[in-house]
Amino acid sequence: MKATLVLAGGLTAALLALGAAGLAVGDDDDDDDHHEHHKRGWVEPGEDVQPVANAAYAEECGACHMAYQPGLLPMDAWRQIMAPEALGDHYGDDASLSTDLRAEIAGYLAANAAERSGKSRARAFSVGDAGTEALPRITATRYFRNEHHEIPTRMVAGNPDVGSLSNCNACHQGADEGVYNEHRVNIPGVGRWDD
Ligand code: HEC
Ligand code: HEC
Repeated sequence: MKATLVLAGGLTAALLALGAAGLAVGDDDDDDDHHEHHKRGWVEPGEDVQPVANAAYAEECGACHMAYQPGLLPMDAWRQIMAPEALGDHYGDDASLSTDLRAEIAGYLAANAAERSGKSRARAFSVGDAGTEALPRITATRYFRNEHHEIPTRMVAGNPDVGSLSNCNACHQGADEGVYNEHRVNIPGVGRWDD
């Protein structure tokens, strides 16, 4: 009797597991399913830049916009952005930090900057200057401009759900995991980008 119960329980569990697996396989458009693939690096395109791996950086530099991966700018650009005076006038905002936090974050960014990356797409962000403004920008790098010049202004500045090209994660569904592949672009109110 006891053995039968155990067997029945085991079967139920096995059937449930099968059902779940069937669902996961059949539901190709499920976002979470895709995330799983990304994490394991199968099927779907992998990371273009190393995901953020520093808690202080994620918290402090992710408060107003996404915490941009260090591989999106060269070391010298991060050094300029992290200078104390620059943090006090950060693209018009005040992003000042304590001395300790500033040192930790600046060190993390320098150690993982674009030219240090093993990933070719991150290295592409280290080529040429990063704009002529007071502070460098990812969006001003040559590689970035080449990749985004075809997007009409109405989809960006004229789009209340995007606002600016600096909001990578508004359009790139994998931005937080460092995935910028054009096949995972979905512009709010416009849809997938297929060209
Ligand atoms: C108080 C809010 C705030 C905080 C905190 C903040 N930022 Fe920013 N950051 C901004 C604003 C505003 C912009 C300009 C965005 C735009 O032009 O759309 C910006 C832009 C940037 C850009 C340029 C993005 C582009 O256009 O390519 C970088 C790089 C950047 N921030 C890095 C950092 C780093 C590193 C930290 C942490 C030390 C940080 N930010 C913290 C508000 C903030
Ligand atoms: C308005 C939506 C939008 C925003 C915001 C945006 N992108 Fe993109 N991005 C695109 C589109 C669309 C493409 C594909 C362009 C093409 O192929 O013509 C693209 C392409 C790219 C590519 C090349 C991908 C590939 O497969 O070749 C990279 C890398 C990239 N973006 C990084 C970024 C980063 C980093 C940010 C933020 C600083 C950002 N993007 C902000 C829409 C956006």
